[in-house]
Amino acid sequence: MKFLSCGSSCGFLVVSALIWVVSALDLQTDDFDSIKQDTALIAKGLLDYYDGYKKGGVIGMFTWPYYWWEAGGAWGSLIEYSYYMDNDTLVPLIKEALGYQVGENYNYVPLNQSTTEGNDDQGFWGIAVMAAAEKNMSNPKDERKAYLALAQAVFNTMQARWDHNDCHGGLRWQIFQWNSGYDYKNSVSNGCLFNIAARLARYTGNDSYADWAEKVWEWMVGTHLINETQPGYYFVYDGVTVNDNCSEVVKLQWSYNQGLFLSGAAVLYNYTQDEVWHERTKKLLAGSVVFFNSTNDIMYEAACQNGKGGQGAGSCNQDQRSFKAYFSRFLGLTAIMAPETSDTIMNWLEKSAIAAAQSCSGGTDGHTCGINWFLGHWDGVYGLGEQMCALEVITALRVHDRPPPYTANNGGSSKGNPGGGYGATNINATPLNLGSGDKAGAGIITAIIGMSIVGATVWLLL
Ligand SMILES: *[C@@H]1O[C@H](CO)[C@@H](O)[C@H](O)[C@H]1NC(C)=O
Ligand SMILES: *[C@@H]1O[C@H](CO)[C@@H](O)[C@H](O)[C@H]1NC(C)=O
Ligand SMILES: *[C@@H]1O[C@H](CO)[C@@H](O)[C@H](O)[C@H]1NC(C)=O
Ligand SMILES: *[C@@H]1O[C@H](CO)[C@@H](O)[C@H](O)[C@H]1NC(C)=O
Ligand SMILES: *[C@@H]1O[C@H](CO)[C@@H](O)[C@H](O)[C@H]1NC(C)=O
Ligand SMILES: *[C@@H]1O[C@H](CO)[C@@H](O)[C@H](O)[C@H]1NC(C)=O
Ligand SMILES: *[C@@H]1O[C@H](CO)[C@@H](O)[C@H](O)[C@H]1NC(C)=O
Ligand SMILES: *[C@@H]1O[C@H](CO)[C@@H](O)[C@H](O)[C@H]1NC(C)=O
Repeated sequence: MKFLSCGSSCGFLVVSALIWVVSALDLQTDDFDSIKQDTALIAKGLLDYYDGYKKGGVIGMFTWPYYWWEAGGAWGSLIEYSYYMDNDTLVPLIKEALGYQVGENYNYVPLNQSTTEGNDDQGFWGIAVMAAAEKNMSNPKDERKAYLALAQAVFNTMQARWDHNDCHGGLRWQIFQWNSGYDYKNSVSNGCLFNIAARLARYTGNDSYADWAEKVWEWMVGTHLINETQPGYYFVYDGVTVNDNCSEVVKLQWSYNQGLFLSGAAVLYNYTQDEVWHERTKKLLAGSVVFFNSTNDIMYEAACQNGKGGQGAGSCNQDQRSFKAYFSRFLGLTAIMAPETSDTIMNWLEKSAIAAAQSCSGGTDGHTCGINWFLGHWDGVYGLGEQMCALEVITALRVHDRPPPYTANNGGSSKGNPGGGYGATNINATPLNLGSGDKAGAGIITAIIGMSIVGATVWLLL
């Protein structure tokens, strides 16, 4: 498909793709006003994909073809933007979305998503509310929707799915047995649990969460999903299947997986001051180099961006086109939590942010962002993921200019509920009695996603 068929609401994008307006954003990385102006324009473009206040739209959801999980990712992008630009304009919109999608058991497994929802999908909403707590976003009136309580609920229900039956542990990709991908144990699902556990440990001071993070880490290293393939470099690979006892690693590397583990390790190092987490942080940082062009230090999604197929997006699918956003966010968090990593990270972020801003020269608005940041201009690709990536890589330049993430002890005021999230329905894999039509639909969707990930032909060679 050449253009997204998302109805009249984004018809203007079709037009904008045809008219080439070259007026790239001119980003001055040391000038807060320049950063504010550019990010405000990019955020506006991001919200063009938001459905919630449109007729027939659902609060918290973005337009087709963006899945529910990516909405969790996009609200996370806007939380970072609001905090680091010191601008509360969008906070009511964000709070409304985070509150509306909590689901019946206040744990981000809403029934009408659960036919397709995986652990990673729930995890990205969990990461958004964790950040809301760390940034002291004001408590919602309904205490069941308090951000810390929701992050704990996501943690509780995810750790309850830890699967001892196959491969000595690990989370499966899927929550529900009928979804293809149920036999796959992947880094993003385990990475979300790890990242949330690390941050809950630091926020609450409760070591049970740190113990869980350690447990996830051990399993990841045990299966070689995190592997010191070159001395001093930890690479995070995509996943393993239970069908062969998790013996064959699918060696795709995605930037967000590296970022989930890198920032989680940095948070744990900061919290425990333990040399073991220090070493792990350093090796994960070293491994992150694969996502930067070695000649110009500009970030790219190495496993798909240069590949063939797609619409100029290489072989990156819609999901993958948003990964650089989370990677940027997690790099920023790492630079705060482990200051010795800051020089390396800020250099990467600065080079990438300038390049990303130059890619934002598309569309009728003249600042629609592209996927390929190497060109110095827009590449003709546009979408929610492209807006998110450019927004977050620029926003992350400001991580040292606002207070580090708060904790319960130093200014965070989010209300918790350590035992929350366990409803009647959502923990086990068989709560719903679906009609066969629903099952087939869900199966097809996940099969397509599964094929495009496992079947991607571009491998990272090192
Ligand atoms: C604050 O954020 C809003 C929404 O993104 C934006 O329209 C506005 O320009 C921003 N204000 C400043 C001063 O950056
Ligand atoms: C999901 O269900 C809620 C009610 O629980 C409803 O308000 C919302 O519109 C539904 N979302 C979608 C995408 O169907
Ligand atoms: C610490 O976290 C664990 C794991 O969620 C929980 O069971 C326990 O109640 C928490 N302890 C306190 C004091 O909150
Ligand atoms: C893990 O690293 C070792 C070298 O330390 C290498 O021999 C092995 O092939 C790697 N495993 C994977 C799955 O990359
Ligand atoms: C997986 O491991 C179990 C127990 O260790 C063993 O019984 C089974 O044969 C193994 N399966 C494969 C495909 O290697
Ligand atoms: C690195 O960027 C240059 C443009 O500066 C580009 O020509 C080259 O293909 C990029 N390398 C990779 C591996 O993408
Ligand atoms: C932990 O993070 C704070 C900033 O939040 C930083 O000042 C401190 O140096 C960090 N500690 C370590 C051990 O890196
Ligand atoms: C966090 O928010 C609460 C309630 O809005 C407020 O009382 C407190 O001062 C805030 N903390 C910081 C560090 O700003």
